[in-house]
Amino acid sequence: MQHDRIAVIDFGGQYAHLIANKIRRMHVLAEIRQPEDPVSAYRGYQGIVISGSPALASQGEDSGYDKGFFELDIPILGLCFGHQEVAKRYGGRVEHAQREYGFAKMKVLGDSPIFAGLGPQEVVWMSHGDTVTELGEGFVEIGASIDQDGTTHHNAAIANDKLRRYGFQYHPEVDDTEHGDQMLENFAIRVCGCKPTWTMDRYIEEQIEAIREQAAGRGVFLLASGGVDSTVCAVLIGRALGPDRLHLLHVDNGLMRKGESLQVVEEFKRQGLGNNLHFVDASDKFLRALAGRIEPESKRRVIGETFVRVFEDESRRLNLQSMLLGQGTIYPDRIETGGTRRADVIKTHHNRVPIIEEMIAAGRVIEPLSELYKVEVREMGEQLGIAPGLLWRHPFPGPGLGVRLLCSDGSAPTGHDADKAQPLIDAQAKPAGLSGMLLPVRSVGVKADLRSYEQPVLLWGEAPYETLLQVAAQLYARVPGVNRCVLDLTGRGARKATPVLGKVTRERLDLLREADDIVMRALERHGLMRTVWQCPTVLLPMSLDDRGRELVIVRPVLSERAMTARPAQLPKALIDEIRGPILALPDVSGLVLDLTTKPPGTIEWE
Ligand code: XMP
Repeated sequence: MQHDRIAVIDFGGQYAHLIANKIRRMHVLAEIRQPEDPVSAYRGYQGIVISGSPALASQGEDSGYDKGFFELDIPILGLCFGHQEVAKRYGGRVEHAQREYGFAKMKVLGDSPIFAGLGPQEVVWMSHGDTVTELGEGFVEIGASIDQDGTTHHNAAIANDKLRRYGFQYHPEVDDTEHGDQMLENFAIRVCGCKPTWTMDRYIEEQIEAIREQAAGRGVFLLASGGVDSTVCAVLIGRALGPDRLHLLHVDNGLMRKGESLQVVEEFKRQGLGNNLHFVDASDKFLRALAGRIEPESKRRVIGETFVRVFEDESRRLNLQSMLLGQGTIYPDRIETGGTRRADVIKTHHNRVPIIEEMIAAGRVIEPLSELYKVEVREMGEQLGIAPGLLWRHPFPGPGLGVRLLCSDGSAPTGHDADKAQPLIDAQAKPAGLSGMLLPVRSVGVKADLRSYEQPVLLWGEAPYETLLQVAAQLYARVPGVNRCVLDLTGRGARKATPVLGKVTRERLDLLREADDIVMRALERHGLMRTVWQCPTVLLPMSLDDRGRELVIVRPVLSERAMTARPAQLPKALIDEIRGPILALPDVSGLVLDLTTKPPGTIEWE
C-alpha cells in the first residue's frame, strides 16, 4: 500500500528521530533524510520537517546543505535550529541571545491552521541559545513565549500560511510540550493533507521479514538483561526465526540490583523463553576491568567491551560462533552515543562501544528495536502478548549500577570555583527562603543538543515543590557550569562538601544495592512503580560537614521516551520512610533528591 509521507531532515538534534516517530504514531509514515540529500530525494513527500541541531544558526554553522527543497511547493516546518533556518531563508535574522531550557508558557497569536484546536496559552519545552529576532516579508509571529522569570521571548512560533512555511523555537515532539502532538498532527494532516494509514502491526510484520532476511539461515545469540527491551526483542526474534534458532545469554555483571539476576532467569522461564537460556556470573571479570576507572565514559566503554568479551567466550564455549549477536538496543541508545551523522556524543551506551560498532559494520549484529522508543517497545510488547507486569518494569540501563556508582580520586573537579558561584546561587535561592552551594563533582547532562559535564547545586530549606523547580531552572540558566540541582532530605543542610576517594568495589556496590532496594520497596508500597517512570539511586563519594563518605541521591523521574524527563514529586510519607534506613547504612553522609529536568541533566548521572 502507498502511504502519504513526511520527510524529517536530521540535522543532529537530540530529538530529530523523535519527530519522525511522533508523526508515525499519528499513523502517517515519516522518514529521516539527511541535509546532504539532493532535492530530487523529496519527490513523493507531502511535507518536510527540519530538525534541531547542535550547530548554531546565528553563526552560520552547518549551513552548507542543499537548500533546493525550500523551492518545492510542499509545506515546511522548522523546529529549533530548523525554525531559525526557515526564518533566515526568508529574510529573517537570528542572533545568539536569550537562552531558554525547560518549560515556558506560549501565548498563541492569530489563527494559523497549524495551531487549530489549541487554547490561547500553551505549555512548551525549550532548549536553545539562538533566537529569531527579525522576520522576513510575509511571515508573522504566531507564538510568544514567557519564561519562568516572566520575560517575554518573541517569535517562539512563526508562520507564512500562504507559502505554508512554519517555524517553532520550542520542541513540539517532546512529551513535555503539552499539545505538541496536536501541533504535529495539524502540520501532517491539516496543513500537508496526509492520510493516516500507517500502523504498529504493519511495523511488526516488516521487522519479522527484516529479521529473517538479515539472519539468512543463521541463529541469533541475544544478550538478555531481562529488561523490557531485551525481552520484547527476544519474543520478536523468536517469532521470526522459531525458538530453536534463538539463544539467550543473561550475564550477571556484578552491577545488577539486589537479587535481580535470579529473578530475571525465573521470569524468562515463565515467559516460555527458558529453552536455550544461558546464565553466566561474570561479576569478577567486570569488577576487575572497572578497578581504578573514574571517568564516566571510560567506565561505560569498559562495561560494553567486557560484555562483548563475555559474549564471545560463551559463544565459543557453547559452539554458537556462527550466530549473530542480538541486542535490544533502542533509539535513544544510538542517538546519545552520537549515532547519527551530526549528533553529539552525550554518553556511550553499553551496546554502542567501538567493538560493537565494528561488529555492526561487519553485519554481525541484529537490533530489531533500534528505531523505537521505550513507549513503542511497550506497545510492540503488548501486541506480541507479553505480560503487562514485565512490560511496565522500570527501565534499567545496560551498564546497570556501574553508571550510578560515581567514582572520584578525592580531588575537586578542575575549574571548580565555589566562591565565584556562591553569590549567583544566593541570588536565586535566598529570595525563595533557601540556601545553596555548589557541589565539587561533575555529572553528565545535555544542553541545547550538546553533552555537558558540569556541577550540581545542593539546596536546603523549606519551599513549595513548584518553587524548588523554579529556583532549579534559574540556577541552570544563571550559574555558569551548573547542570543539576539536588535537595537535601535530611534537614541538616551543609556547610562543607568534600570529595573523597571512591572506586568501583563490591563493597560500594553492595551499599548502593541496599540503598536502591530501600527506595524501590518504598515506591512499591506506595503504588508508585507505574507513575514514576524510573528512579535511579546514585552513590556519590562525598563527605558533608566531615560526616560519612557516601552521599545517596534519589532521582525519580517522569518520562515517556527518556529523551526528556521531569523530576517526579515523591510523597512526604515516602521520604520519611526511606530517610532513617538510608542514613543508617554504613558511611552514608547524607540523602538528597535530584530535582533536575532533562535537559539540562540526563536521567542517569554518568
Ligand atoms: P539518560 O541518562 O541518557 O538515559 O537520560 C536515558 C535512558 O537510557 C537509560 N540508559 C541506558 N540504557 N544502555 C542502556 O541500555 C546504556 O548504556 C544506558 N545509559 C542510560 C537510562 O537508564 C534511561 O532510561
